[in-house]
Amino acid sequence: MTNPVLEALAFRHACKKFDPARRIPDDTLAQIMNAAHLSPSSFGLQPWKFLVIANPELRARLRPHCWDQPQVTDCSHLVVILTRRERTLKLGSEHTRRVLAMRGFDEEKLRAYFRRIENYYWQELIPHINFYAWGSKQCYIALANIMTAAAAAGVDSCPMEGFDKQALDAALKAELPGEMTEDFGTAVLCALGYRHPDWQQPPRSRLPLEEVVRVVE
Ligand SMILES: Cc1cc2nc3c(=O)[nH]c(=O)nc-3n(C[C@H](O)[C@H](O)[C@H](O)COP(=O)(O)O)c2cc1C
Repeated sequence: MTNPVLEALAFRHACKKFDPARRIPDDTLAQIMNAAHLSPSSFGLQPWKFLVIANPELRARLRPHCWDQPQVTDCSHLVVILTRRERTLKLGSEHTRRVLAMRGFDEEKLRAYFRRIENYYWQELIPHINFYAWGSKQCYIALANIMTAAAAAGVDSCPMEGFDKQALDAALKAELPGEMTEDFGTAVLCALGYRHPDWQQPPRSRLPLEEVVRVVE
């Protein structure tokens, strides 16, 4: 039995050398970003924003803040996945009210849902991790969907945590003040494009499946 998702996952590798001459067609890029848009998030709060940066000069200015990784400039599009900061994830914020109102909650249901979220925040989230880390976890789900949708369309990708967060956030604020506001911070990056003809993917390296997947009856 063929499984198109597994085929896409087999195609995907972290691409370290992109072909700078190739650009992803707009309709393919739209499909890939639709996968990000359809991603699930905890309580449905969608704590993200995706800056899809095609502009080569802008990517060249961002590259020094990304460990000078060549994928930033050689790829076709650099997706900067931003997570929301605490202020807009707090209950009663304009953002939380808006996303929950979109689900058609009336005031009573909204109050009950807020209570559940409040419980989660105070018992699980705040004592253990912060809002940035929590928002970023949701962003990584979108990251995975972007990579898989890209692979299904024959597009290569490289997920990237290798960046100086403070410097990159500051650069994005200076470059794109309308997009990168105080409400956001960079969670993770994803370079998208096509592998260079010279690029040899290394063999897949994974621990044995039986060791990491344990079925417990
Ligand atoms: C969250 C995350 C961050 C990563 N950051 C980088 C990065 O900054 N630069 C890079 O070249 N590779 C990065 N990688 C790629 C990993 O090194 C790669 O996925 C891993 O070695 C497994 O190889 P494969 O993806 O080809 O199967 C990252 C991967 C993930 C999942």
